[in-house]
Amino acid sequence: MIPLVIDTDTAQDDCIALLAGLLDPEAELRAITVVAGNVGFDHQVRNAFLTLDAAGRLGEVPIHLGCRRPLVRPWESAENVHGDGVGGLTMDFTGCEPNPEHAVDALIRLAAESPGELTVVCIGPLTNIATAAVKDPGFVDNVKALHVMGGSNNARGNITAAAEFNFYVDPEAAKTVFAAGFDITVIPWAPLTLERAVFGQPQLDEIEALATPLSEFFTRVCAATLEFDRSVGIDGTTHPDSLTVAALLHPELVTRTGRYHVDVETAGDLTRGYAAMSWGVHGLEPNATVVEDADAAGFFAYITGLLGAETPAP
Ligand code: BDR
Ligand code: CA
Repeated sequence: MIPLVIDTDTAQDDCIALLAGLLDPEAELRAITVVAGNVGFDHQVRNAFLTLDAAGRLGEVPIHLGCRRPLVRPWESAENVHGDGVGGLTMDFTGCEPNPEHAVDALIRLAAESPGELTVVCIGPLTNIATAAVKDPGFVDNVKALHVMGGSNNARGNITAAAEFNFYVDPEAAKTVFAAGFDITVIPWAPLTLERAVFGQPQLDEIEALATPLSEFFTRVCAATLEFDRSVGIDGTTHPDSLTVAALLHPELVTRTGRYHVDVETAGDLTRGYAAMSWGVHGLEPNATVVEDADAAGFFAYITGLLGAETPAP
């Protein structure tokens, strides 16, 4: 089993990524840490509890609340894309208390408890991770690896022409993390997600036909982004976050990688959050492995395998 923490701005594809971390027998999910990103912070926390409940694991995995805004900038959300992040789902939240330990301290502690073992899957802005690295320099060495969803390696952004959302929201944090010395694997938004992690109508029909509580959860949670994605010409829902978890737990789904020096633009008016991925001809030492291609059919089969399973009894 792979010990991991998922650091998330819980909405839509984050919820599906959490399901993977909660239900995949390869995963030993030690904590969920929440960071400011997609939707209002309190909604994100509720969405994490809803996902634990959907997985039948409420009360088993602690949720730690992290940074409520980026390091130096005001928080910018993607509520126009995600709505509340779960398609209006709700539940009785009585007794759903987050762990009182701050997410940054939990990350530092969990990494120190088993040096060289813990992987952090980062599927939101990198504010918590950068803060942990600054607060405790030992954190970088204690963490085995980071799996980071962010950036694009063909300059095609989803929030601006140049930038992908997670790096755009907190570019200073992203820059800090890539300079810190972590062992990093990057799952970029473009072209990888667009080519290998979009579920179109035939796949959505297949998921609906599973007719399990988890497939119903998926359909409901992904409805808002499906509408948004279609409005911008993407033929389905995008799933970079669950691909990031899958790439860790099932590396055979990754079919091509490259070593790059990754840095993040913090100054440009048009290029804030742009991921500069230098492939070695500029004299810069590689600091990250970038996933360049993946097995789309295998990834979809992985997701349907998760969603087709009966939820464990609460
Ligand atoms: C990333 O931003 C969020 O909207 C998604 O959850 C994903 O982590 C894609 O740019
Ligand atoms: Ca996310």
